[in-house]
Amino acid sequence: MRVYRTGVVGTGFIGKVHIENVRRLGNVEVVALADKFQAAETAEAMNVPHYFEDFREMIDTMDLDMVHICTPNNTHFEIAMYALEHGVNVICEKPMTTSIGEAKILCEKAEETGLVAAINFHNRFYPMTNHMMNMIKDGELGDVFSISGSYCQDWLLYDTDYSWRLNTEESGDTRVIADIGSHWMDLAEFVTGQKIVEVCADFQTIHEFRKKPNKTVLAFSTETFSEEDYTKIPVSTEDNASVMFRFSGGAKGSGFFSQVIAGKSVAIDLLIGGYKKSLEWDSMAVNELQIGMRDKGILHVEKGPATVHPETLPFVAYPLGHAEGFVDAFKQGFREVYESIDNKDKKYHYATFWDGLHEMVLCEKIWESSKEQKWVKVPQEV
Ligand SMILES: NC(=O)c1ccc[n+]([C@@H]2O[C@H](COP(=O)([O-])OP(=O)(O)OC[C@H]3O[C@@H](n4cnc5c(N)ncnc54)[C@H](O)[C@@H]3O)[C@@H](O)[C@H]2O)c1
Repeated sequence: MRVYRTGVVGTGFIGKVHIENVRRLGNVEVVALADKFQAAETAEAMNVPHYFEDFREMIDTMDLDMVHICTPNNTHFEIAMYALEHGVNVICEKPMTTSIGEAKILCEKAEETGLVAAINFHNRFYPMTNHMMNMIKDGELGDVFSISGSYCQDWLLYDTDYSWRLNTEESGDTRVIADIGSHWMDLAEFVTGQKIVEVCADFQTIHEFRKKPNKTVLAFSTETFSEEDYTKIPVSTEDNASVMFRFSGGAKGSGFFSQVIAGKSVAIDLLIGGYKKSLEWDSMAVNELQIGMRDKGILHVEKGPATVHPETLPFVAYPLGHAEGFVDAFKQGFREVYESIDNKDKKYHYATFWDGLHEMVLCEKIWESSKEQKWVKVPQEV
């Protein structure tokens, strides 16, 4: 068995999830991590043998097969480019970059090198989202005419909530759309096989100013400080986004995306209407799929080897009644990405840099649509 040597850049919230779950594959050794902040402490806590402050030094010295990029969005480009230039495969967190231009250059570089270049749109890897995709592919719903839903969180509800995501330079021109709308749009397109071709968006910022703590705060932190420990900063990105969509297969729909809806810690909903049946998946009941039938009502299907589509079976790791969630989706996605290093010809489900580029185009067009308050076409080739 080949054992892959992996390095993880950025070990805040999601980098640790990467380390824990890539280890579950059994054929991956996390040999190093790189972080500008507390690299030594994290390496010790997670039993990673080597640590670096500079990702370049890690790539130069550790003879890596794969780099996982788990840093703020504006750093993805230089890290991914450095890895590809040095012959290292890449799994990059979403959104791919902060601009279409950068994403395009990375796609070209990935193609030129022939290396694996994946984006971690992990929602594709829940058993029930994969099952949905297979049901639609088999025509069980009939033609799909509507694709709607939402992705809501609440961790930025208060004006004292702060993250690098509020800084346009680090996060890009859109926040809610790039951070979580991109997940929903990628999932909607993956499940239905229809691409978003036109958008009409309306953004809302509920806090025009926020209080930024005068020290580093990790994502989703609930730490509070006294008034003198904050600096008042203007916010130019959206807290809420309402978007109408037109899809390539003729479906229409809408999405509501928010980081300020109290009680919705992480809630994704995807509702698909077809001429025969409807499907609804809600991440709060991640192992369940609702199949809507006009004459029989709603059938609630639980994830299990006997209840999913045969082609979904590789994504079901445990029997009926054994919940599989967020971290399992990461493991399943990583499994495919690593398999593709030495077996390029198989068809995989993971998002590639090209899918990441398409999401960057969507982010920009949605931002443009909200600014200009009109429908905007989404170019499919850039
Ligand atoms: N797939 C998902 O569900 C998911 C969830 C959360 C975050 N993300 C994505 O993961 C990325 C990181 O988000 P997070 O929530 O973990 O942020 P975070 O702030 O918790 O962690 C980021 C880490 O990167 C480090 N860092 C920053 N610049 C660096 C550099 N140049 N070199 C090395 N380390 C550097 C920071 O010190 C920090 O430890 C973002 O792109 C985000 O969109 C994806």
